[in-house]
Amino acid sequence: MDLQSSIAITISFLIFSFSQAQNPQIFHGEFGPFNETYYGIFEVEQPATISNSALQITPDSINGNFTLANRSGRVLFNRSFILWEDGGVGGERVASFNSSFLINIFRVNNSEPGEGFAFLIAPDTELPENSHGQYLGLTNSTTDSNPSNGVVAIELDTVKQEFDPDDNHMGLNIHSVISRNTVSLVDLGIEIAPVGGKNHMVWVHYDGNSKIMEAYMAEEGKGKPATPALTAELNLKDHVRQKSYFGFAASTGSNFQLNCVLKWNLTVEMLSDPEANGSGRDKKKLIKICVGIGVALFSFLLIGVGSLVYYLHRKRAASDPKLLRALQSLPGMPREFQFKDLKKATNNFDEKHKLGQGGFGVVYKGMLPKENIQVAVKKFSRDNIKGQDDFLSELTVINRLRHKHLVRLLGWCHKNGMLLLVYDYMPNGSLDNHLFHEDEENTILGWNLRYKIISGVASALHYLHNEYDQTVVHRDLKASNIMLDSEFNARLGDFGLARALENEKTSYAELEGVPGTLGYIAPECFHTGKATRESDVYGFGAVVLEVVCGQRPWTKIGGFQFLVDWVWSLHREGRLLEAVDERLDHEYAADEAQRLLLLGLACSHPIANERPKTQAIFQIISGSVPAPPVPPFRPAFVWPAAAGGMDFDASSADTTPMTSGWTPQYISRESGGAERYTDSPVSPVG
Ligand SMILES: *[C@@H]1O[C@H](CO)[C@@H](O)[C@H](O)[C@H]1NC(C)=O
Ligand SMILES: *[C@@H]1O[C@H](CO)[C@@H](O)[C@H](O)[C@H]1NC(C)=O
Ligand SMILES: *[C@@H]1O[C@H](CO)[C@@H](O)[C@H](O)[C@H]1NC(C)=O
Ligand SMILES: *[C@@H]1O[C@H](CO)[C@@H](O)[C@H](O)[C@H]1NC(C)=O
Ligand SMILES: *[C@@H]1O[C@H](CO)[C@@H](O)[C@H](O)[C@H]1NC(C)=O
Ligand SMILES: *[C@@H]1O[C@H](CO)[C@@H](O)[C@H](O)[C@H]1NC(C)=O
Ligand SMILES: *[C@@H]1O[C@H](CO)[C@@H](O)[C@H](O)[C@H]1NC(C)=O
Ligand SMILES: *[C@@H]1O[C@H](CO)[C@@H](O)[C@H](O)[C@H]1NC(C)=O
Ligand SMILES: *[C@@H]1O[C@H](CO)[C@@H](O)[C@H](O)[C@H]1NC(C)=O
Repeated sequence: MDLQSSIAITISFLIFSFSQAQNPQIFHGEFGPFNETYYGIFEVEQPATISNSALQITPDSINGNFTLANRSGRVLFNRSFILWEDGGVGGERVASFNSSFLINIFRVNNSEPGEGFAFLIAPDTELPENSHGQYLGLTNSTTDSNPSNGVVAIELDTVKQEFDPDDNHMGLNIHSVISRNTVSLVDLGIEIAPVGGKNHMVWVHYDGNSKIMEAYMAEEGKGKPATPALTAELNLKDHVRQKSYFGFAASTGSNFQLNCVLKWNLTVEMLSDPEANGSGRDKKKLIKICVGIGVALFSFLLIGVGSLVYYLHRKRAASDPKLLRALQSLPGMPREFQFKDLKKATNNFDEKHKLGQGGFGVVYKGMLPKENIQVAVKKFSRDNIKGQDDFLSELTVINRLRHKHLVRLLGWCHKNGMLLLVYDYMPNGSLDNHLFHEDEENTILGWNLRYKIISGVASALHYLHNEYDQTVVHRDLKASNIMLDSEFNARLGDFGLARALENEKTSYAELEGVPGTLGYIAPECFHTGKATRESDVYGFGAVVLEVVCGQRPWTKIGGFQFLVDWVWSLHREGRLLEAVDERLDHEYAADEAQRLLLLGLACSHPIANERPKTQAIFQIISGSVPAPPVPPFRPAFVWPAAAGGMDFDASSADTTPMTSGWTPQYISRESGGAERYTDSPVSPVG
């Protein structure tokens, strides 16, 4: 485990979270003095290193490798920023940023310095080959001047090429080492690499509204000059990739210098959260979907996403680097894997090994060679680990959850800010696959298996909600999260993670997942943004109907927008069993189907209080308690829920309230945030 890198990440994200809390649209990082921990959050392109409390953008003479001539390197903050947005509702927008850094460009043995150093915005973290000498680690002889470089830089050049004014100048470089603007620093009394050495401060300001870039430079301690050394008009949108990285590049030639960064501050306006994928494609997709669903739901969704985002931001906890150490010493923690072993196990995260892509990252199939067992390795996308400490504390909870209907967590790995979780491999994939992707191998799931799967899910849910001293809310119950082991037992995956990974990609806001998630989300979640046991039960109801009917929750069917409404109408008309999947060809137990359909409807009650609790669900499935009475019309959704909870339509006033008889001893409402039950747990059967 690279503890140090995690500390560094913690530090930087602490800063990040802090500034987010104050102003959600600004990223602010203060980096340095530098030590190895920064390898975790910076992409250090060799031969660049971090040593002597500095980023050595080209090799350092005291680093044991004296090849100082003809080298180039890059160090970039390993996190991209959205630097501009296309038209659309808000019109074109370009991000503003400020950066300041303390540098030491040092001539070795007082020899002539070379070649130069640059502050850089780049589309990726790769160092171009052969970018030494005049290319400053920015371009090379093939790529120079090519607009596809996506490179904008402020150079500090110590060698005069034929296109340069002198050997001590600052320049604005766009895709090319031939600067668009240059200014000699001689008149400002600045020598970039003076004999004897000096530290300099550089400030680069960019205003995305006026589209002006300014760069200032002064000797350390002299303060920021009143006027910039270089001012240039520049629309970043025309030159850099939408998602770009910030950092430094430098090179040496036959003459060489040390290119050291001692401290670095970076402030970037966040146009849209990178995770929210505010790109046109997704927006368009979303709009399309929402038009389909209806304007009303669309605004529901917006309110929901908004309040969820607000809620998550508020709830983001402070970071605690100690936690990691504590975690490592915890007995019974899942095992920590070496990154290289997981890399090997998945054949370097080969696309061919990809099992799927969830809300939080990509899952790969792997083979642990020593143990000779198959595993599923979930690789979290980097931006997901903002709430790292929450994640780790959640991991301790997840780890203590042991149930035969939960996918078992085998271990974890944390490397350079990247998190990986290792789970038991589920040979039969997801329920979703078996219900909807019949192919040569997947024959249609028979009734008994369907019943067994639902029963397993109920058992897992009951366990999560009640049996562990701390209630765990799944939040993301849906067919694609229900895995099937070799005997087609249901195993819930991804439990508890949503709470830990507090970011905009949790289930409700996962824009990409809108069509795949909508029918599973309880209506109140769009108001509260908060997942509860009741909202889990709602998701469970959607899964039950999906499994029995063989239709997705959001299927438009029989003139209804959602599966649940159609089933409800059949119930009203006394034709409930017509909802059962036709592909079963009447091969099912009618009493069981009736029971599950009624249960599915009861769980889909728009009012959270009225949904059955997991214990009742369990009893209904096991047949020990009769199916719940369900009113003929689906009750209206009321927000906020009226006190007392009974909000049935007038049309259903003559029916028995759904609560009667089958939600017995459960004390229910949770108070505040402490989601705890006080009654004694009940062991799941089966
Ligand atoms: C490295 O730097 C970070 C941040 O400045 C600091 O918290 C940490 O203690 C340093 N680690 C070492 C080994 O010096
Ligand atoms: C020094 O740099 C050269 C050129 O990249 C490399 O081949 C060599 O392995 C390095 N030596 C050490 C000791 O790092
Ligand atoms: C950058 O600095 C200038 C001057 O200090 C300030 O007016 C501006 O708001 C800053 N921009 C950002 C994005 O921090
Ligand atoms: C970074 O910002 C802090 C405070 O905001 C300031 O004290 C420090 O001098 C700055 N460092 C650099 C390198 O700009
Ligand atoms: C600098 O000078 C010292 C002593 O003169 C010598 O040993 C060293 O190799 C020189 N370093 C370089 C990089 O030329
Ligand atoms: C320049 O860099 C590109 C990309 O790194 C590479 O494909 C190309 O071969 C390089 N050109 C030279 C002359 O090295
Ligand atoms: C650096 O490379 C240039 C050609 O790109 C070559 O002429 C020169 O000899 C090299 N210098 C050293 C010290 O290797
Ligand atoms: C964001 O967009 C990229 C490419 O357009 C895509 O690969 C990625 O899955 C998207 N992520 C989300 C959360 O939409
Ligand atoms: C930087 O981030 C990229 C993409 O998230 C990842 O592939 C790479 O391993 C990271 N590198 C380091 C040093 O963290």
